[in-house]
Amino acid sequence: MHVNSTEPSQQRLSRTNCRKILAYSLILENISEIFTARKDTPVLKGGALCIAAGPDGKISFAGKTSDFLKAEPDFRSKYAEAIFDAGNRAVYPGLVDSHTHLVFAATREDEFAMKSRGATYEEIAAAGGGIINSTRKTKSAPLEEIVRQASKRLEQLISYGVTTVEIKSGYGLDTESELKLLTAIKELKKLYPIEIVPTFLGAHAYPPEFKNDHEGYISLINNEMLPEIKSRGLAEFADVFCEEGYFSLKETEKLMTAAKDMGFRLKLHADEFNPLGGTELAAEMGAASVDHLEAVSEAGMKKLAENGVVAGVLPITSLFSRLPFAPAAKMRDLGVTVALATDMNPGSCMCGFLPLAASIGATQLRLSIEEAVAGITINGAKSLKRDDRKGSVEPGKDADLVVMDAETVSYPVYHFAHNHCKNVFAKGRLIHSN
Ligand code: NIG
Ligand code: FE
Repeated sequence: MHVNSTEPSQQRLSRTNCRKILAYSLILENISEIFTARKDTPVLKGGALCIAAGPDGKISFAGKTSDFLKAEPDFRSKYAEAIFDAGNRAVYPGLVDSHTHLVFAATREDEFAMKSRGATYEEIAAAGGGIINSTRKTKSAPLEEIVRQASKRLEQLISYGVTTVEIKSGYGLDTESELKLLTAIKELKKLYPIEIVPTFLGAHAYPPEFKNDHEGYISLINNEMLPEIKSRGLAEFADVFCEEGYFSLKETEKLMTAAKDMGFRLKLHADEFNPLGGTELAAEMGAASVDHLEAVSEAGMKKLAENGVVAGVLPITSLFSRLPFAPAAKMRDLGVTVALATDMNPGSCMCGFLPLAASIGATQLRLSIEEAVAGITINGAKSLKRDDRKGSVEPGKDADLVVMDAETVSYPVYHFAHNHCKNVFAKGRLIHSN
C-alpha cells in the first residue's frame, strides 16, 4: 500500500494506529527449509522454521520457530489471522526474471517451423522473420490487445513464483509504437501486485525505413524517443542489441552514452553470436548487467568482474535456439555475479519458465544448486538494482516468498521442468496459489 505524503494527516494517523494493532501481515510457519540467498547461510534446514512480515510487507523475522516463540510466545492465538501453514514445505524468495521481452503482439509459429528444419536466427531474419516480423504485428495492434496478451504471459510467470520481472520494449521501433509498448508495461504494473521493471529497447533492430540510414534511427532514439520516455517516466533502463547486423560497437556507444547522460540505467544484449566488444564497453560505462554472453571473450569476462557488472545468462535461449551455453561457471570463477533469466520472447526463446533456467544452470552450466537458485533470485535482483529490497529472505527485505511443493530447496532444481510453485506472496500478501 503506497502511502502518499500529500494525504490528510488524519488518514496517516489512522494507518499508524493500524500498524500498532496488526504487528504482522504474515506469519508463514511450518517451513521445512528456506533458501535465504544470504551469503553466510544460503539455506536454513532442520524443519520448524518460520518467516514473519510486518504490516509494511517487509520481513521482520526468518529462522527457527522456537526462536520466534521466544519473542512472540502467544503468536498463534494473538495473530491467528496472519498465520499461513506451509505444510512442511520449502520456501524460496520470490523469483526474479531479470530479462524478458514479454510485451509483443503476435507469436511466430511459422518461423519456429523454419527453425525446427535447421534455419539459424540470421537465416530467419534474412527471410523477413525475426524482430522485424514481430514489429510489423505489434505496430498495428491496439494497446488493449497488447496488454491482454502480455497479461496472460505474466500470469503464467506469477504461477511459477515470479514476483519481480523486467520487461523490455523493442517490437515497436518507432516513437509511437515504442511508447505504446512502454505504456502497456505501465498498465501491467497497475494490474498486477508484483514488481515490474521497464526497459526501453528501441535499439533492438533497425526498422526497414532506416535500414540504410543508421544515423537517422540513432538520432530518432537519442533525440526523440529517450527524452520523451524520460519525461513520461516510462522506463528505468535502456538496452541495446549489440551484434553484427544489428547495432555495431560504435553505434552502441552513441546510444548508451545518450541514455546514460539522460539518467537511464544501462543494460546490454552482447556477445550472443559475435564478441564485438560491447561487454567491455558496457562494463566500463557501469551497466547494471550485460546479457546473453554465449560468445563472450576472456577480455569481456574480466571486464565484468573488474567493474562488478552482473552477467545475465539465458540458458533456455541456448536450448531453444541451438546456441552454446554462456560460460557461467568460468565467469563465476572470475568473480562475476551470474544471474539466470528466461529471455522470454517470440523468436529466440518462447518460454517463460524461469525455474528451468536454474535446473539447466545446475546441470549444464556447472553451477551449484545454491548458485543456480541465487541466479533466479538475488543475482537477478542485483542485475535490476533491486537487491536492497528483493531476491533474498532476510529482515528488511520485501516479503516476496514462494512456497514450493517440495521438502528441500534442492528438489525443485533437481526435479527438472516441473512447476513446484504452490503459493506466491508479494509484500506479505498471498497473490497466487496453484
Ligand atoms: O534477446 N537478441 C535479441 N533479441 C531477442 C530476440 C528477439 C526476437 O527474436 O524476437 C533475444 O534473444
Ligand atoms: Fe533478450
